[in-house]
Amino acid sequence: MIWLDPVRFVQFCHRRYGKLFTTRIPGIGTLVFVTDPDDIKSVMRGDPAIFHAGEAAAPLSQVVGPQSILMLDGDRHRRSRAMMLPAFHGDSVRRQVAEMVAITVDEVARWPVGEQFPLFPRMQKLTLEVILRTVIGVHDARRLAALRAALPPMLDIGSPLELIPPPRVLLRFGMWRRRAQHRAAALALLTDEITRCRADPQLEARTDALAMLVRGSDADGAPMADDDLLDQLVTLLLAGHDTTATALSWAFERLTRHPALLHRTAAAAADGDDAWLDAVCKESLRVRPVVFEFGRKLTAPVQLAGHRIPAGHILAPSINLVHHSPRHYSDPDDFRPQRFLNQRPDPAVWLPFGGGVRRCLGATFAQVEMRTVLREVLRRVELAPTTAPDEPVRPRHVTMMPRHGAMVTVRRRLTVADRVVTR
Ligand code: HEM
Repeated sequence: MIWLDPVRFVQFCHRRYGKLFTTRIPGIGTLVFVTDPDDIKSVMRGDPAIFHAGEAAAPLSQVVGPQSILMLDGDRHRRSRAMMLPAFHGDSVRRQVAEMVAITVDEVARWPVGEQFPLFPRMQKLTLEVILRTVIGVHDARRLAALRAALPPMLDIGSPLELIPPPRVLLRFGMWRRRAQHRAAALALLTDEITRCRADPQLEARTDALAMLVRGSDADGAPMADDDLLDQLVTLLLAGHDTTATALSWAFERLTRHPALLHRTAAAAADGDDAWLDAVCKESLRVRPVVFEFGRKLTAPVQLAGHRIPAGHILAPSINLVHHSPRHYSDPDDFRPQRFLNQRPDPAVWLPFGGGVRRCLGATFAQVEMRTVLREVLRRVELAPTTAPDEPVRPRHVTMMPRHGAMVTVRRRLTVADRVVTR
């Protein structure tokens, strides 16, 4: 049942068994879903030596590699995270906005007018381009083209079932063999980027995350080794591209079903009213979180909500259930950006980026990118509102996307004169 309809399965268990419930998933382990914000806080603040996020994410290791920050726990995680954080601080992210604008303008110019199309593949292309140029720092047309072709087949996991490691003997056949070939091709290109970056005479002047990682060092002055760097690049590509593309697709899916809000958001885009755009992004991430749960595998038993949870179990705080609880949000299923207008979300009940020492490293990056893309799209095209039913949620590896890919129609292109009129 959990594989067929994970969303309804978890909602059903919550109604039936209350705030803490356990399910066994073959190939993954025993998951204990946590739905109460106080319990979730205990999980997020739990001792990192006991609450292992790296071990909980183990199935992803085939894609991101064993040195990935996502796979690490304890001191090794702390060291990698400390080295990566500066590249994702607000100041570093703000330096990337002009590039995000240019990429969006270029992408929107290719959208058809007057015909319906799914936004998700366009957003995937756009967010991949953002990562290639701002995180890996590639600007050469030939290398960009090679990376655009080689990376999606490595990153495209599709069904969550594909993450369950197969018996070793199968690795030489079919889907697994193809996956290994795609991975080898993509890693060769990324390795080349690392080598070029180290040798780049402009290294000191570069603002991309790869250059910052190459220039950086840990508390003992040791630089990040090439193997580590490679796995971190794959991680940033995987964690940063589909997630943001999905979040943006949901934002447009929600807006086109709320004509008054679509109109207000277009006006905010024209006026550069970032407070409203920010509220739209936060509310969209609340009502349609991209990731439904995050995990911590226990290395020792813990007490939680009056229960003893054994070592080896995976605690899974449910972002989706908290975001949809009437205890924490009035009319939780409604899309109402006003909730977050000029208000900081309460981190105990707004959890799209997880929390604690493992909170999403790219949370600021993602929100700046969402705001920028929303603004630049709505400045350039008028999207048609729709009375079509809400798109259902479809699981796609660890994310939850709109089932039809967020179908939209561009009614017309806007000129600079239109923008002035909107004001
Ligand atoms: C809307 C877009 C995004 C969403 C919804 C999202 C969500 C998440 C979530 C739920 C986690 C797990 C947190 C936890 O276990 O407590 C996570 C981790 C992570 N994310 Fe994101 N993410 C997004 C965008 C990005 C971007 C743009 C990047 C980088 C370019 C990124 C990089 C990472 C990394 C490196 C981690 C692992 C952090 C660690 O283990 O210390 N994410 N993200």
